[in-house]
Amino acid sequence: MNYKLTLLLAFIVFGAQAQKLSEAQIASKVDSLVAIMTIAEKVGQTNMYNGTWEFTGPVPADDNNQLKADNIKKGYVGGMLNVLTAKGTREAQKMAVENSRLGIPLIFGYDVIHGYKTMLPVPIAQSASWDFEGAKRGAALAAQETGASGVHWTFSPMIDVSWDARWGRIMEGAGEDSYLTSVMAKAWIEGYQGDDLSDPLTIAACAKHFAGYAFAEAGRDYNTADVSPQTLYNVILPPFEAAVNAGAATFMNSFNEISGVPATGDKYLQREILKGRWGFDGFMVSDWGSIGELLTHGFAEDSAHAGELAFNAGSDMDMEARIYEFELEQLVASGKVDMSTLDDAVKRILSVKYRLGLFEDPYKYCDDKREKELVYTAETKKIARDVAKSTLVLLKNENNLLPLSKNIKSIAVIGQLAGSKDIPLGNWRAQAIANSAVSVEEGIKNAVSKKTKVQFAQGYTLTTGNRDFVHELTFEDDQGEGFEEAINLARTSEVVVLTVGEDCYQTGEGRSQADISLKGKQLELFNELIKVNKNVVVVLMNGRPLAIPELAEKASAILETWFSGSEAGNAIADVLFGDYNPSGKLPVTFPDNVGQEPLHYDRKSTGRPVTNAFDNGLVFWSHYTDSPNEGTYPFGFGLSYSEFNYSDLNVQSVENGKVKVEVLISNTSKTPGKETVQVYIRDRVASLTQPIKRLVDFKQVEVAAGGQQKVTFELTKEDLGFYNNQYEFVVEDGAFDIMVGTNSMDLMKETINLTF
Ligand code: BGC
Repeated sequence: MNYKLTLLLAFIVFGAQAQKLSEAQIASKVDSLVAIMTIAEKVGQTNMYNGTWEFTGPVPADDNNQLKADNIKKGYVGGMLNVLTAKGTREAQKMAVENSRLGIPLIFGYDVIHGYKTMLPVPIAQSASWDFEGAKRGAALAAQETGASGVHWTFSPMIDVSWDARWGRIMEGAGEDSYLTSVMAKAWIEGYQGDDLSDPLTIAACAKHFAGYAFAEAGRDYNTADVSPQTLYNVILPPFEAAVNAGAATFMNSFNEISGVPATGDKYLQREILKGRWGFDGFMVSDWGSIGELLTHGFAEDSAHAGELAFNAGSDMDMEARIYEFELEQLVASGKVDMSTLDDAVKRILSVKYRLGLFEDPYKYCDDKREKELVYTAETKKIARDVAKSTLVLLKNENNLLPLSKNIKSIAVIGQLAGSKDIPLGNWRAQAIANSAVSVEEGIKNAVSKKTKVQFAQGYTLTTGNRDFVHELTFEDDQGEGFEEAINLARTSEVVVLTVGEDCYQTGEGRSQADISLKGKQLELFNELIKVNKNVVVVLMNGRPLAIPELAEKASAILETWFSGSEAGNAIADVLFGDYNPSGKLPVTFPDNVGQEPLHYDRKSTGRPVTNAFDNGLVFWSHYTDSPNEGTYPFGFGLSYSEFNYSDLNVQSVENGKVKVEVLISNTSKTPGKETVQVYIRDRVASLTQPIKRLVDFKQVEVAAGGQQKVTFELTKEDLGFYNNQYEFVVEDGAFDIMVGTNSMDLMKETINLTF
């Protein structure tokens, strides 16, 4: 290449970029760059590789990796995933920038789902905080550690609303409610992306999985999703629209089909809705190999056909199906894909790279010093502990057994989960160090006075085997060997803290479960322990709602702690001993039994709602003959060490179809506390039947001991209307129930007539 051309190219690609570029400047730079790209270079941008080799060492001579390396050097790769560390990403970036004709930088993505090395609570737990600022702070921390480790892009947040506790990935999302998920989506995206994406301590978010993935039939991962337009428009899509509005840089599509069309090949979803109606200007990455799966779905004849369908449908980047790499150029040459469609995808990808500041300095995220200073420090752990505290949900507290005194004589800490320094880290744990969490046992020991005797007994065994390699774990290999020791310890201790639930590897991708009650011998042990000790506090550790009616009935106290990350034990002890007054609320309904799933509070009335089916002996009602309809703990439920009383509900119609809602919250206890005040509505008669209640707003208020606080909401048409089956937003005149309360079941109600 001649010298002048090299200079010209360098100017077009990198230009002088001292300051943050405006969107207009980015568009013009991208246009100039695309104008000089060959088809092969354009296709290269749509191709994403997994980093299967260790960049911190020499590239192995293995053919496949060699091919990948060669392609990076030619400029035939747009992004990579699982390439890590400041040093590793620098090596990979160098290959692209210093060897390819145009020197276009790679984008590096990674699954930072709830932290990079400092683990935050799993996403469902963060949602249980109902705390926008806390979730944002957690995401900002994850972004700081990720960005400082050379990576620019997280495949998070997962904002699939899930109604089914059997689905293992319910742990990765914000729960069963569309509104709460939308709030969390915004918090996470703003936390990751900050105000300036080109700051190396912010990273690009990826809203996933678009769409319908959580509606897998029977909760079995990857299964078919067959959803009505009403559910699609009103439940599944709103969090994704919120993600676009929050500025999500990228989207990921999903493995499932939705109403007969695999999402990766769904043009209506990706082009018409996402990029058209919502005006999304980032790019869509496929899920891992999902373009190839169009064949197994029975949607595409061969790889070329799959590539054509996916690309035309709006899937801009191919994650590891290796189909665009081999087929896209030919598809453009044969006219099956328009050059303008290719250009559009490439422009989207390049724009995100510009926004990340990669053209200004492709190595700006690769700073060893920063990585050492900012990852996994005392400060990051403090934030993780703060976030974790707010995610814990107090489900039961008979006779105010909790908080415990730090001067208590003796505590028996029982259960494999209580002793584990690994399980609280959760699944999708990125670069967490194995066995690095503060266990429940350690947290309790850290909190109590010197005089308190804390003793541990494993009691039950849920999993055995090599935790470094999850496929070597054996589940439920328990003959009850630990019972005797645990029972003896319980008998001689003042209080028992029994930790039960799930191993973190029982939730997550590919971990659907047909039985969501306590596995193995956990319940049996619980039943033995309550025979010998009246003060059994159950600490639940799990990633999905569990069916635990027996615990709910017989335990003295229950604290839901999810998988709460690096500082789990300390945060749990903060609540157990009253240093933090629990404020979490369930973002999912806890069922009574698995047969009720999918279970969600915002259900319909049906023509035959249950009134008194069990009492009157009749069976012709919408109910089960062997189970209640309701779950054990409702959506939005969570106790506090304070007592909150709701009164003086006042609902008024104000101008423009707006509704003003006021309620008085009184803290009748001696403990100051935080309450999440929830507002639900029901449109009583509508052209499409509406849920019996749905969350439209909430506020968190701190109320002093013995204090009162008036809380005010303003509901607008956006809260009161719904999407019809033509995806038009409608607000219909008539009667509305406005409900306010502490959870989705305990609500004050006023009915109001509205004309819009
Ligand atoms: C998951 C995605 C994830 C991707 C990359 C897929 O199996 O469904 O959520 O981001 O892998 O690791």
